[in-house]
Amino acid sequence: MTPTVPIIEAATSTDIPAIAEVFARAFGEYRLALGCDTAALARLWAPLIAARRSNWHVARISRPGAPEAGPVVGILALEAHGEAHESAGHGLRTLAVWRRELGIRGLLWACYALFPLAIAYVRRPPRSDELYVANLAVAPEYQNRGIGRRLLAAAAERAQERGYRRLSLHVAASNASALHLYESAGFAREVTIRPPYRGPLGIPAFIAMRSG
Ligand SMILES: CC(C)(COP(=O)(O)OP(=O)(O)OC[C@H]1O[C@@H](n2cnc3c(N)ncnc32)[C@H](O)[C@@H]1OP(=O)(O)O)[C@@H](O)C(=O)NCCC(=O)NCCS
Repeated sequence: MTPTVPIIEAATSTDIPAIAEVFARAFGEYRLALGCDTAALARLWAPLIAARRSNWHVARISRPGAPEAGPVVGILALEAHGEAHESAGHGLRTLAVWRRELGIRGLLWACYALFPLAIAYVRRPPRSDELYVANLAVAPEYQNRGIGRRLLAAAAERAQERGYRRLSLHVAASNASALHLYESAGFAREVTIRPPYRGPLGIPAFIAMRSG
């Protein structure tokens, strides 16, 4: 596949629907696990993205000769140490959207589905000298063109600018392309976390990784 050189920049509030859409399309397994379609999955994630908009970056493809910004084809969320605990205020708003989209049974199912992910995070939380890669995804039709690698390099640049020594992240042990990307970019496996159940996402383990 021909490499595509994206422009990577901080997300603006008008990017939120596009970020949610790339998320929903890239993480197809969430759609299946939560029993909703792409549009609903995007609506579920939009309030979470809006609550932390300043953490998000977007990769755009500029169209030759077109003066306007190109479409968002990749997304990156970076989280500083301790930031995850600051979002309690947004939690209720998010919960209301999820309840409306999924109903009570669907909401409980979503908690069950996502709990293994939370366990991985709690067992190996980001440390104070690390900038945490909370999300990285590329729209399916733009994958394998080097955009994920560019986003990861942008994450490393932001970490350096902000005085962090390294990046850290969690990845599903079954996610071969992401594991390849991280290892070839110099990330090392630190610990494998096996939650007590796989859940509907079917992930047997998560690997905590950090850059060298
Ligand atoms: C993981 C992801 C972000 C990578 O983005 P991308 O733009 O496709 O990545 P790149 O093109 O920069 O690099 C992909 C690398 O993975 C390799 N790769 C692709 N599929 C692979 C597979 N099944 N097994 C091993 N390696 C694979 C490619 O060959 C390439 O490696 P190379 O540069 O050494 O040739 C993208 O696949 C994605 O959005 N996946 C869904 C969401 C996701 O899983 N995000 C990560 C969560 S931790």
